[in-house]
Amino acid sequence: MSYDLQQRITDAIANPKNLGEMENADAVGTVGSADCGDMLRMWVKFTTDDKGRKIIDRATFQTFGCETALAVASVATELIAGKTVDEALNMSGSDLSAPLGPLPPMKIHCAQLVEGALRQALAPDSKPTQLAATAPTLIESFTAPEKKVNVVFKKPTN
Ligand code: FES
Repeated sequence: MSYDLQQRITDAIANPKNLGEMENADAVGTVGSADCGDMLRMWVKFTTDDKGRKIIDRATFQTFGCETALAVASVATELIAGKTVDEALNMSGSDLSAPLGPLPPMKIHCAQLVEGALRQALAPDSKPTQLAATAPTLIESFTAPEKKVNVVFKKPTN
């Protein structure tokens, strides 16, 4: 990993943006990586613009992930604010991680984890779950035996 990339990741995780559960989210997506076992959840709140289009007002996240996933989620939640759902759905993992610079091959799945959570949240049938509304943290939501979590494992890309 280049020094510049490592420094940008270090900077992003030193002051992560939009970290934490969102109350009254309109959508939530949770994904796990089959590559490394890390997990990430993203909450999204929508609004409408002056043309009546549904746009992303804000997004937040929690993760059991590596530093790269945390850094990508931080910059991605800033990037998608103000975008329409279609615009956000057209963003790839590399688009979402662009402010950090190109990721090395072994870290591409970290950005894909963020992309997957965003796609899960923006899926037409995605709704806030009882889990999202009540679980105070991502780890508690996975450890509480009486609660259900919809986790989508992504296939390895290589
Ligand atoms: Fe698993 Fe980065 S190593 S998300």
